[in-house]
Amino acid sequence: MTSPATSPVWHPFTQHALQPNMIEIARAEGAWLETSDGRRILDAISSWWVVTHGHRHPRIVAAIEAQAAQLDQVIFAGFTHEPAERLARGLLDIVPPGLAHVFFSDSGSTSVEVALKMALGYWRNVGEPRRRIVALEHGYHGDTVGGMSVGARGVFNAAYEPLLFDVVRLPFPAPGLKQETVAAFRAACEAEPVAALIVEPLILGAGGMLLYPESVLVELQRVCAEHGALLIADEVMTGWGRTGALFACGKAGVAPDILCLAKGLTGGSLPLAVTLCTPRIFEAHHSTDRSKTFFHSSSYTANPIACAAANANLEIWHSGPVAERIAALTQGHADRLAPFRQNHRFTNVRQLGTIAALDVCVPDAGYLAGIGPKLQQFFLERDILLRPLGNTIYVMPPYCVTPAELDLIYGAIGEAGGALGGSS
Ligand SMILES: Cc1ncc(COP(=O)(O)O)c(C=O)c1O
Repeated sequence: MTSPATSPVWHPFTQHALQPNMIEIARAEGAWLETSDGRRILDAISSWWVVTHGHRHPRIVAAIEAQAAQLDQVIFAGFTHEPAERLARGLLDIVPPGLAHVFFSDSGSTSVEVALKMALGYWRNVGEPRRRIVALEHGYHGDTVGGMSVGARGVFNAAYEPLLFDVVRLPFPAPGLKQETVAAFRAACEAEPVAALIVEPLILGAGGMLLYPESVLVELQRVCAEHGALLIADEVMTGWGRTGALFACGKAGVAPDILCLAKGLTGGSLPLAVTLCTPRIFEAHHSTDRSKTFFHSSSYTANPIACAAANANLEIWHSGPVAERIAALTQGHADRLAPFRQNHRFTNVRQLGTIAALDVCVPDAGYLAGIGPKLQQFFLERDILLRPLGNTIYVMPPYCVTPAELDLIYGAIGEAGGALGGSS
């Protein structure tokens, strides 16, 4: 069932003139969405990369129910609660070493805003007001003003340009170019003191599922350390197992100064985000001088129900079969991607852990490639939710996905290449 074009709802990243009707979802379970009239759709992108274990994981649902019956919401300035305290400690046990403080917010974008404010606040409070932020070409860090500023510029933010601040942008470390990236960062640090470098570690998501090697991240961190710049790791997409390891930084052996987590933090059940930082950053704000306060809040900071869901998520990570499922999904992708490497309708077949991507050969590659909406429609007609980034098809299902479900997804991708793709 679809909602009519007369609905008053304005949907995100949606051109209503081209897509007036929305599919109404009434239920979800595991890797499946169910419409109000009973149609089942396979959620091959984890509902925008948030659902990790599967929709409505019983442990998370139970935790939400129990917490809702106890404490629904409380102001988080001057007050605290057990679910947030437990979650903060639980996170510090599993994130890369060196992080010691946890600031709560509500979305990936706000976790990035908090990270940028922490970095600039740090430099101001230590009396060395560095202003320069450095970011990677093709990066995506959310749709708030700070997130857009550090993200790639393009059709998505052209209208909001007057709001955006300048950053130094490093060339993407494509194969053969990684030394250029590191050299550009070193040059930026030498030209003007850098406050922070923000990166999506190991894979740029919305920028087109672009992979780069661990060694680049290691070298960028080394340059940060040499020049005292803070390293902000935006693991909003890469966190919670997506790259095969719990966190991409951990996989690369890199310890950031600031870490952003959201999406899979609650297993994908409720909106919640955290920005973690090292003692150095917290200490710079820790003062009897009230002007050194970290001035950031949102009404729902550390909502208890969302924290309870995140605590249940951590329990699943500790005691559920998550590593096994991630290993199986990683292998499942690899097996099914292999034939596409010989298929002339596709190129750049790639994988990092549970994330698989490949590009359909078209003359107008890129986010606005004409084939994007056609592909999406093609998959939906086969009851599969895939949302290609232009001509890049990626598969990022919840970890409960079965081999048979993966077969459905890859079968449809093969068919789409034949029906819609060109050739290289
Ligand atoms: C790396 C990264 N950072 C930030 C964000 C923004 O997160 P949210 O949509 O929860 O605001 C995203 C969203 O996809 C992301 O991939």
